[in-house]
Order: sequence, then structure tokens, then C-alpha cells
Amino acid sequence: MNDSDLVEAARQARLAAQAPFSGFLVGAALETAEGAIITGCNVESATYGLTICAERVALVKALSEGHSRFVQVAVVADAGQPTPPCGACRQLLWEYAGNLDVVLANLTEVTGRHQLADLLPLPFDRRQLE
Ligand code: THU
Repeated sequence: MNDSDLVEAARQARLAAQAPFSGFLVGAALETAEGAIITGCNVESATYGLTICAERVALVKALSEGHSRFVQVAVVADAGQPTPPCGACRQLLWEYAGNLDVVLANLTEVTGRHQLADLLPLPFDRRQLE
């Protein structure tokens, strides 16, 4: 799959964002090892603290639909600078999707590419519990 299909899916998912408090709409798209695309958008709460980021929405959707192997994630926001995943999303993506390629983009271009391992050095995960 080329980047643009995944980024375009994240752009489309962003349009469903429920972001009345921040006004910051985010879309994410996860590519599975089988080539499927699972998308998510941010969903905010009036409590603020219960807000869920687009990346975690995509991840829990994918897991709940039986997907378990992932290769990359695209994150899209309408911003000049890249929108990197927050710490909570980095943690859960690492635990359930491993060392993904992370593609950051806005409405018109790709603004950054990273490996998840570089965004979450020295992670805590199931290996610490063995
Ligand atoms: N947000 C995401 O959905 N993903 C990110 O990578 C960064 C932040 C959301 C959470 C909240 O709804 C809004 O953006 C502002 O923080």
C-alpha cells in the first residue's frame, strides 16, 4: 500500500472527529499486515479527561475486529507542524502493534515519518512482567 492511501483514509476519518471542545480534529489510519485499513478519529468528552485520541480509537476498533498484526499508522490534523501521537497512544500502540512506521500528515502533505520505537524509548511492556 502506498502512503497516500493510508493518509487519505486518515484524512477521511478526521471528518468524523467529535472535537467540540478543542476544535482540533484528528484522523488516524492503521494498516494491518494483511493490508486492511482501520480508521479512527478523536472523541472528546465534556469531562475533558475521558477524551480518546484518534490513534487509540483506531487501535481498539482494529483489535476488537480481530486484527492483531500492524505495519504502519497515519495521523492527520489540520496543522502546519506535525501532530505526533501523545504518550498514552504511543504506549498502547507499542504494546499492541509493535514498532510501527508512523506517518504524520496534514490536509495536503506528509510532515514527518518515524519509527514508534524512536518515539517511545525504553518502553514498559509485558516483558517487564515476565
Ligand atoms: N489528539 C489526537 O486525537 N491525537 C493526537 O495525536 C494528538 C491529540 C486529540 C485529543 C484531543 O481531542 C485533541 O486532539 C486536542 O488535544
